[in-house]
Amino acid sequence: MCGIVGYVGPQGALDVVLEGLRRLEYRGYDSAGVALLSDGELSTAKKAGKLANLEKELAEQPLPAATIGIGHTRWATHGGPSDRNAHPHVSADGTVAVIHNGIIENFAALRAECEASGIEFSSETDTEVVAHLLAAVYEATPEGEGRLAEAMRGVCQRLEGAFTLVATHVAEPDTLVAARRSSPLVVGVGDGEYFLGSDVAAFIGHTREARELGQDQVVEIDRTRGLTVTGFDGTPAEPKAYTVDWDAAAAEKGGYDWFMLKEIAEQPQAVADTLLGRLGENGELLLDEVRLSDEELRDIDKIFVVSCGTSYHAGLIAKYAIEHWTRIPVEVEVASEFRYRDPVLDRSTLVIVISQSGETMDTLMALRHAKEQKARVLAICNANGSTIPRESDAVLYTHAGPEIAVASTKAFLSQIVACYLVGLFLAQVRGIKYEDEIAAIVDDLRRLPEAVEKVLEQMEPVRALGRSLADANTILFLGRHVGFPVALEGALKLKELAYIHAEGFAAGELKHGPIAVIDQGTPVVVIVPSPRSRNSVHGKVVSNIQEVRARGARTIVIAEEGDEDVVPYADHLIRVPRTPTLMAPVVTTVPLQVLSCEIADTRGFDVDQPRNLAKSVTVE
Ligand code: M6R
Repeated sequence: MCGIVGYVGPQGALDVVLEGLRRLEYRGYDSAGVALLSDGELSTAKKAGKLANLEKELAEQPLPAATIGIGHTRWATHGGPSDRNAHPHVSADGTVAVIHNGIIENFAALRAECEASGIEFSSETDTEVVAHLLAAVYEATPEGEGRLAEAMRGVCQRLEGAFTLVATHVAEPDTLVAARRSSPLVVGVGDGEYFLGSDVAAFIGHTREARELGQDQVVEIDRTRGLTVTGFDGTPAEPKAYTVDWDAAAAEKGGYDWFMLKEIAEQPQAVADTLLGRLGENGELLLDEVRLSDEELRDIDKIFVVSCGTSYHAGLIAKYAIEHWTRIPVEVEVASEFRYRDPVLDRSTLVIVISQSGETMDTLMALRHAKEQKARVLAICNANGSTIPRESDAVLYTHAGPEIAVASTKAFLSQIVACYLVGLFLAQVRGIKYEDEIAAIVDDLRRLPEAVEKVLEQMEPVRALGRSLADANTILFLGRHVGFPVALEGALKLKELAYIHAEGFAAGELKHGPIAVIDQGTPVVVIVPSPRSRNSVHGKVVSNIQEVRARGARTIVIAEEGDEDVVPYADHLIRVPRTPTLMAPVVTTVPLQVLSCEIADTRGFDVDQPRNLAKSVTVE
């Protein structure tokens, strides 16, 4: 969601801020703006629509040169996407400019208070109250070093909800102040310069040295005094330093038409990197980074996997493996529902939260609820320095590299693999599986990058199929066992990218209702399990294909090499390499990603930034 950039240093601030905003475009937005501070004057420009609109405006009406500035890409919540609702918002007296990510839940009361004091609002946003309040509190704050930071602390104590705020004041020409509560903000430290960003992509082209801010903290960055962090109550705090292990090239398209295509192609590497250093020579699991003691892991009697969207689908897949390997019951739940139904949690419960971004608000709130109930929380996350791993008891990072396209691809495969590592590690620590059994599964995991590579080599017919499906009104996806969550993921990808109605079903459920929607020519994608699968669902899925075909469906069958049973019933057959049942989602998902990408591209849509969507959903 909203992208935030701030800069203080020797360079031209506008260029640095615009570059940061460009790198944050992937988060999803509908308007953009900048504010620069030079010679004690604030100047702003803001435009609805894409960054190009703002850049055009800046070319026509240039702002004075400055070396301190802030920039924002807005994903509308309060007030539609328009020029006047775009950030930065400036206080009525013209002294303060503010950008914001999140929602100020008590903004209506605060707005009424400001209006009662005679202030006229110029937008419908919740953010604008912060600009007016900050200007007023600044006036009431004693003069001296750190005055803006002190005023920001005072304002934050009055705000309810989740927010990242960055502000600048005309009386402090060398200072930016930022605050965060439950919303992302990282600081980049360069040579004599500082950056603020919603995530490290904002400054990855300038520095890889970063500082993590904690909950309810204010950071002041000053050209001469450097960086000072305090809590909202003024208590000094030490930000955690870390080095970003992504480079700028990793966040660029590198010759591909879409980031999504690049990220699909990077999947063998993402899987390999997620396994790297975690598999021992003798086939044992090496997960020292999981900071839970063996005793704590042995005490676990129940697991919840909690996440959203694609990460939720990774959790659904993980359930099959973790229960099978550990015999611990696993429940999987969407984060937005989890805490509101009062789940039964205690010290013996392990809650695994999965999040690519580490900033998804629903997942963060579920995590906090689990911790309040004394459950242990393990995060599976792709973004170092983000909130979810920081607040969890333990973390296992997926090493997928930056995922820029809104549609999650390489993060998904690496999440499945990370979940499997956790499941196997639990089985190892608890002595549920013999060493040679674990070593055999580890071998299966090691073969996955090559298997994904093979799938990628055979995608041309899938692309052609995608082009032929571009006019479909609806596409159904069927699967059983681990193929069921893969079907859900296939349907989600298609909806979010191609805006075509799609649904994923457990193939066995079809006859209980959904089969009625199948009509002449309805495309139905079927994920077929291996004929060698232990629980013999293969035959049943082959029957399901015949059932839908008998009712006119155009069948698109994903089946492993050598499965001849499906051939007579497949209008289109997509082959994937032979893979053990539990590993199959890592290969069967790939053609579904390619299919959706191709359909969306053929329909002329923006594959990387689909309408209405944000990469990281930082509001509930
Ligand atoms: O960053 P997260 O993994 O927490 O994000 C969760 C979902 O918002 C995300 O997976 C979303 O569903 C993707 N756009 C799907 O492609």
